[in-house]
Amino acid sequence: MDYCVITDKLLEKFRAIVGEKNCLTDEENLREYSHDETEDLSFIPEVVIKPASTEEVSKILKICNKHRIAVTPSGARTGLSGGALPVRGGVNLSLSRMNRIIEIDEKNLQATVEPGVINQVFHETCKEKGLFYPPDPSSWGSSFLGGNLALNAGGPKAVKYGVTNAYVLNLEVVLADGEVIWTGANVLKNSTGYNLTQLMVGSEGTLGIITKAVFRLIPYPKSNMLMLVPFGSAQKACEAVSAIFQAGITPSGMEFMERDAIDWTLKYVQDVQLPVGPAVQAHLLIEVDGNHENELVEDCQRIAEIVEGFEAGEVLFADNPSDKEALWKLRRRVGEAVKANSIYKEEDTVVPRAHLATLLKGVKETGAKYGFQSVCYGHAGDGNLHVNIVKGDMSEKAWREELPEGIREIFELVKELGGTLSGEHGIGLVQKGYMDIVFSERELALQKAIKQVFDPKGILNPGKIFND
Ligand code: LAC
Ligand code: ZN
Repeated sequence: MDYCVITDKLLEKFRAIVGEKNCLTDEENLREYSHDETEDLSFIPEVVIKPASTEEVSKILKICNKHRIAVTPSGARTGLSGGALPVRGGVNLSLSRMNRIIEIDEKNLQATVEPGVINQVFHETCKEKGLFYPPDPSSWGSSFLGGNLALNAGGPKAVKYGVTNAYVLNLEVVLADGEVIWTGANVLKNSTGYNLTQLMVGSEGTLGIITKAVFRLIPYPKSNMLMLVPFGSAQKACEAVSAIFQAGITPSGMEFMERDAIDWTLKYVQDVQLPVGPAVQAHLLIEVDGNHENELVEDCQRIAEIVEGFEAGEVLFADNPSDKEALWKLRRRVGEAVKANSIYKEEDTVVPRAHLATLLKGVKETGAKYGFQSVCYGHAGDGNLHVNIVKGDMSEKAWREELPEGIREIFELVKELGGTLSGEHGIGLVQKGYMDIVFSERELALQKAIKQVFDPKGILNPGKIFND
């Protein structure tokens, strides 16, 4: 069944709920909200609606559900899997005005927020109170907590502290028919019925609209140390990763960057200088944190010894805040640098950590077979490798017709190694065609049945996660 086209009469109803200026139909805004950061994809919505409260979201969904209007929730639109693309037109529901940090409860180490709060703003606000919200995707300077929840976002700190879902205690959700529920309770342990909170996290806006979240927080670690380790072989760099964990050290950051990733980013970021010798093929950026400096120094010494066994070059220690910031800036902007360099596709592969080197080797072999260049980087400590496939001088035909087969081969390898399609970017639009690699028909049917219970008319973020 088709989705309803939004009539002038319906637009009037939306305007009555959110006000004229928060119901946008001009070309410039429709174009702006037609894309996120996924490749060069664009789908024009019929209207962009910006509610300011749970009540307004509820009223909008009641109308959309009644008339079967497609609703694509959107945050800062920094996503890389096409989750915020309004592929069926309809409403782009922007949560940008719901951006209040409602409460930081210092007695319970908890915070209640709205979905439009920027990750880094929340992080800094907590930090001022000595509290730590660890999930820190590279887009943290702009991405919203609502989007982080929708994708179960990770980031460099996930390796020690876990991803978004490890911090979510309770969610206020507007269901497809407009009813408002809370999924759990504001408690640190909860064995009470099915875990709707965790079901909602990572569901990419297909089961409900998150309008409030209660997070747990932890004390902010007092110090950290950061080191950049060059390797003559990317394989060796990957192998060193699991050796460090096996030695009993859990770094608070363990990032891998191939040579091209560093070179392209150095050109793109310009204000960061870093001498990279001709023999260097890859780097590990390793951070340790804690409350006792002497322990961190010991960890770093031990890490330096371990990487030596993997033919590492001279370790660079960032010993002041601005050097640390420069190295993190370099790492966080790799994705943007690749995007600025060429048309590309991003795969968010994830495997058990010790198989990272095998995965990287497989990616390069598949590239040689299908004739594509790839720039790989990512959260090595999580076995999470971002494989950026660069179009370069590949023909249009090879890019469109042959490459998907190559990507399928990469995902088949990922599955063989015990991994899966996405570690933190989600399935959205661009990976849904590969779900059959990692799930059986029965497993997919269970997931689709859940969708049916929450959203029987299929209005919430249609065209995502599953092939239609
Ligand atoms: C990163 C984003 C792309 O790791 O996930 O930089
Ligand atoms: Zn990442």
